[in-house]
Amino acid sequence: MMAEPRKFPHHLIREIFEQPEALRRTIEPRISPSDGLVRLDEVRIAPEELRALRRINIVASGTSRHAGMTGQFMMQELAAVPVEIDYASEFEYRNPMIGRGELSIFITQSGETADTTAAQREARNKGSRTIAISNVEGSTIAREADGFIYTHAGPEVSIASTKAFTAQMACLFLFALYLGEIKKTTSAESAKRYIGELRGLPQKTEAILAAADQVEKLAELYYRVDDFMFLGRAIHYPIAMDGALKLKEVSYIHAEGYPTGEAKHGPNALIDFRLPLVMIVTCDSNDAGSVKRYEKNVSNMEGFKKQGATVIALATEGDDEIPKIANHTFFIPKSPELLSPILEIVPLQLFAYYVAAKRGLDVDRPRNLVKAVTGE
Ligand code: F6R
Repeated sequence: MMAEPRKFPHHLIREIFEQPEALRRTIEPRISPSDGLVRLDEVRIAPEELRALRRINIVASGTSRHAGMTGQFMMQELAAVPVEIDYASEFEYRNPMIGRGELSIFITQSGETADTTAAQREARNKGSRTIAISNVEGSTIAREADGFIYTHAGPEVSIASTKAFTAQMACLFLFALYLGEIKKTTSAESAKRYIGELRGLPQKTEAILAAADQVEKLAELYYRVDDFMFLGRAIHYPIAMDGALKLKEVSYIHAEGYPTGEAKHGPNALIDFRLPLVMIVTCDSNDAGSVKRYEKNVSNMEGFKKQGATVIALATEGDDEIPKIANHTFFIPKSPELLSPILEIVPLQLFAYYVAAKRGLDVDRPRNLVKAVTGE
């Protein structure tokens, strides 16, 4: 007998749980069955042109911009190309000095965000090639771009973006690998290893979702708190930003996302027993850079604990150091550092959902927000 489809009380929690499938749909069609490498035919920009790019600009708003921030690390690492990030709403004000020989990537779930579509027009007028990453086929942004990469996350109803976000990061990773293959900055062997890891993400996401009750228990402990700080270093910083954004938009709790090392430059004055910290301290033990960052994170965490802070940590499975320091530890399956953001955001989405639900709020339609911001 077929299992009954699981019923969810809100779109938001359903969409969080749809992420394994959304990732599969986004990743699988882009892997060529013949050579096991990435194929992105919709990009429609000749390989010679991609090989010669001087710079990539990524422009987006909100959560889509956070995806872009992770894409910056992926592309710089795998394709050795400088990448700049912009807020779509700020793009026109800084006289963007972009032009021919550059590629501008516009990320928008809806494909209709006014600031992002306007920024794309400006980039095109200046001679830049453009690629749109959108969840909506035939959306304005995709129609006007030179090329596009669709996230196949399926319709996202809840205002807070969840499955579109993880699918956007998967697309950015696919594009970074594609570019790395074309530029030969990533060897075929390394690309295949990464592709194997990428294809393994849906299953790892399922494992995280299977532990959702642990996150719900944390939410039960913290849902009355009024301020939170989320900290992450390097590619984990955009995830700290997005964890904070999810919490503030659905639960109306003040939450800040900060780069961990930056906390010393001011915010530390706030850190004591009244301000719970959510710290992303995952580690890829096969990567010397990741291990170095982890050691810095551990030392920062010890300092915050001495100041009386309560720490909720996201650590890598098998880490037995973090639980000795943090008040609570949620474990993330092992993965290469460039891919772990796609896993790390899932417990933070769950946390925002359970906190908001316990506060009795309209989690799918937070006040003052709309799904697509079509006015500037
Ligand atoms: C946050 C959220 C927003 C959107 C932003 C851009 O959960 O959903 O921050 O990410 O309004 O929307 P799109 O991606 O449609 O351009």
